[in-house]
Formats: sequence, C-alpha cells, structure tokens
Amino acid sequence: MNRMFAEVHQDVRSIIRQGAELTDQALESLVPPATTIPVSIHSAMRHSLFAGGKRLRPVLAIQAAAAIAGAPPSGIEKLAAALEMLHTYSLIHDDLPALDNDDLRRGHPTCHVVYGEAIAILAGDALQTQAYEVLATLNCPAAATVEIIRLIAQATGTVDGMIGGQVQDLEAEHQKPTATLVDAIHRAKTGALIRVSVVAGGIFAGATPEQVKQLDIFGRKAGLAFQIVDDILDVTQDSAQLGKTAGKDLTSDKATWPAVFGLEQSQQDAARLVTEAFAALESLGPRAEGLKTVARYLVERKN
Ligand code: IPE
Ligand code: IPE
Ligand code: MG
Ligand code: MG
Ligand code: MG
Repeated sequence: MNRMFAEVHQDVRSIIRQGAELTDQALESLVPPATTIPVSIHSAMRHSLFAGGKRLRPVLAIQAAAAIAGAPPSGIEKLAAALEMLHTYSLIHDDLPALDNDDLRRGHPTCHVVYGEAIAILAGDALQTQAYEVLATLNCPAAATVEIIRLIAQATGTVDGMIGGQVQDLEAEHQKPTATLVDAIHRAKTGALIRVSVVAGGIFAGATPEQVKQLDIFGRKAGLAFQIVDDILDVTQDSAQLGKTAGKDLTSDKATWPAVFGLEQSQQDAARLVTEAFAALESLGPRAEGLKTVARYLVERKN
C-alpha cells in the first residue's frame, strides 16, 4: 500500500496532486530521456506528456483501485502512466491539422507546431505502443493484466471507443447535431477512456465481477459528464484559463452538448450524471469517497 494515501478523507487538491505526482514519477522513468536517439521523437513525446495535464484518468484509476483495496495498491502507477500515455497520444492526434487543427495545448504550442506533423504523428503512435509495453508488465495476476489490456484496447478502438468517436466527431462537423449523435460521440471519443480507467483500476486492485460492474456504471456516467463539461468550458472560459484555444467548437461547428441542449441544460445534465454515478458506488462504502471526490471535481473544474 502506498502510505501517502492512508488518510480516508482528503481534499480534492491533495488527491489530484498525489495521483499526478505518482503518475509523473512513473512517466519520467518509463519514457526514454529526450537525449535517446532518435532525439526528435523522445523530445516530442516528453513535450506533450510533461506540458501540465491534469492527470485525471490516472487519478481516477488510482482512486478506483483505492475504492476496492482500501488504499492505492503498489504498482498502480504503471497503469496510471499507461493511461496518461494513451490520453496524451489522443490529444497529439486530436490537435493535428487534419483533425482539430489546434496550436495550443496544455498552455504550450502543440506537438506538431514544435516538432512538425510527421514527428507529432509518430510521437502519438509511439505513446500508444509504449502504453501497451508498460501494461504488459503490470504486477497483478496475469489474467487481470490480459483483461485490462483487452478492455483498454477496446475502449480506444473503433467500435464505441476513442478512435471511433473521433471519426464521428470529425464527420459531424458542419452537420446539424442530434441528441443521439452527440451522446454517441461523447461516450466514445472521451467517455470510453475515462470509463476504462476506472474499471482497470478496480481490476488491478482485485475487484469482484460485481464491483467491476459498479465501477463500470460509475465510469460510464462520469465519462459522459466529463466531455459535457469540456464542451461547456470551451464556451465559458478563455484560452489562458483552458490552456487550449477557447471557442474552438463553435468556429469548427462541432457537435457539442451545448449546441444541442444549450448551456443551462448541459450544466444540469453533467451534475445529474455525477449524482447518478455516485449511486453506483453506494455498496463500496467509505472507501469510494476519494473516487466520488474526483468525480465531483470533473464537473466543478474550470479547466
Ligand atoms: C481534454 O482532456 C481532452 C478531452 C478528452 C476532453 P483533459 O481535460 O483531461 O486534458 P488534460 O489532460 O488535463 O490536458
Ligand atoms: C477530444 O475532444 C477527444 C480526444 C482527444 C479523444 P475535444 O476535441 O473536444 O478535446 P479538446 O477540447 O481539443 O481538448
Ligand atoms: Mg476533437
Ligand atoms: Mg480538440
Ligand atoms: Mg473540447
């Protein structure tokens, strides 16, 4: 058990800071130094990884594991790091000129702006392959490792997964978005990785099938709420606050929750989803407090 996490009641700042630190230490030791040949790609991977992301998927995985085991199990940081590698890969590709064409990410110029498109594409690919290399070395029972790998590959894939959601997101530009479409896009492009972060954390910690089911329901609702809030913040915050270009969804004519339901309804939907997500954790008792605290932050955050 990690002693840092011994206290049951922690405020959200310290939960996130400790999870982020654990993740960053693991990333630092797992990702080749920027001096390793070929230096361009290792610099590019590190540029995007260490630009200051919130590390929310790792934190969710750590807190889901704590909800099962009582405290974050040792070795959870490798799962956390792999999830962040996959998320960062998705951001590098999301920002490419062929996708969202963004030049600001995590408060810094995007990967392709600094390193060029070819290296940015390859840096995303490299983070993805390295994530699976790391996952293959998780120290949990082999069957659990294989299940975690399978679920993560599925969640980032083309059927109801991250890549499929990105495709639908791009194809929905300049179309009138419907409730059904935006729901499918959000669950897939963003919800699926958040959901699997929670589930994988639980499986790593030895969750029973019933507990996995509860974490899955929680992750599904929290994941959708997260993207709804991302859409809201794109409208309500400025670029300095977000660390990415604000107002971009409107100019790109994206299928967003506020575009379909309006801002007020979007806020209500996100809050409702998180309340529903909490209900799924009831039987886990006080051990799930950390996970609930992070879920609350998902909808209260300002960046
Ligand atoms: C942004 O994710 C992209 C989405 C999937 C909505 P985050 O808001 O978690 O971004 P970082 O990791 O903190 O930069
Ligand atoms: C990004 O959705 C989803 C993935 C990266 C898979 P957005 O395009 O809304 O994310 P931001 O707003 O650029 O971070
Ligand atoms: Mg996008
Ligand atoms: Mg984008
Ligand atoms: Mg967005």
